[in-house]
Amino acid sequence: MSAPGLDQRTLRDAFGAFPSGVVAVAASVKGQLTGIAASSFTSVSIDPPLVSFSIATSSSTWPALREADRLGISVLADHHDAVCRQLAGPREERFTGLPFRVTGNGSVLLDEAVATYDCSIHDEVVAGDHVIVLLEVHEVGGGDGEHPLVFHRSAFAKLHRDDLDPSRLDGRINGAEVDRGEPSVVPGEAHDAA
Ligand SMILES: Cc1cc2nc3c(=O)[nH]c(=O)nc-3n(C[C@H](O)[C@H](O)[C@H](O)COP(=O)(O)O)c2cc1C
Repeated sequence: MSAPGLDQRTLRDAFGAFPSGVVAVAASVKGQLTGIAASSFTSVSIDPPLVSFSIATSSSTWPALREADRLGISVLADHHDAVCRQLAGPREERFTGLPFRVTGNGSVLLDEAVATYDCSIHDEVVAGDHVIVLLEVHEVGGGDGEHPLVFHRSAFAKLHRDDLDPSRLDGRINGAEVDRGEPSVVPGEAHDAA
């Protein structure tokens, strides 16, 4: 049920205007490789370490995947566009030919991911036609991939690094120091730390 004048197409287009990365959420559950591609991943909390993603209540994979002790999250790299399509495709072919490893506790992590997280389910919150899955992070990995895959307006893109005013994010964000590993003052330029 949506507000009058707010049809699903309009809403999807508006949601698609927000760019995101894409992750693989995957585990070996009772010996069965199980997983999906998800663009709804986001970081949530530092202490305790929490991340989240949303899964459609209609998902045929979630009932099995939520049985896993640990879930592997792999941040897809910009050469993983075909991998992403495969992970969103027919269930029986999702892992065919994919380079991945299964950890001792059953997380499935993709090779050449930009970052990996070994997680367990912290909570599930039903939100409309999706479930917000909160995950506790137990371990993080650097991954081998360098550049993330970007999902924007239903298409894949690469991140074009062209930083706008590198001094802008120096200072504190949400109470945390932001250290970009760069000089905090641009010579000759006065600025407020935002
Ligand atoms: C780029 C991309 C992002 C996606 N993000 C999500 C997501 O955040 N949540 C979700 O439930 N499905 C998402 N999907 C769809 C799932 O990957 C998968 O196709 C869907 O869960 C249907 O399969 P299932 O019935 O096995 O769950 C995404 C698909 C693609 C291609």
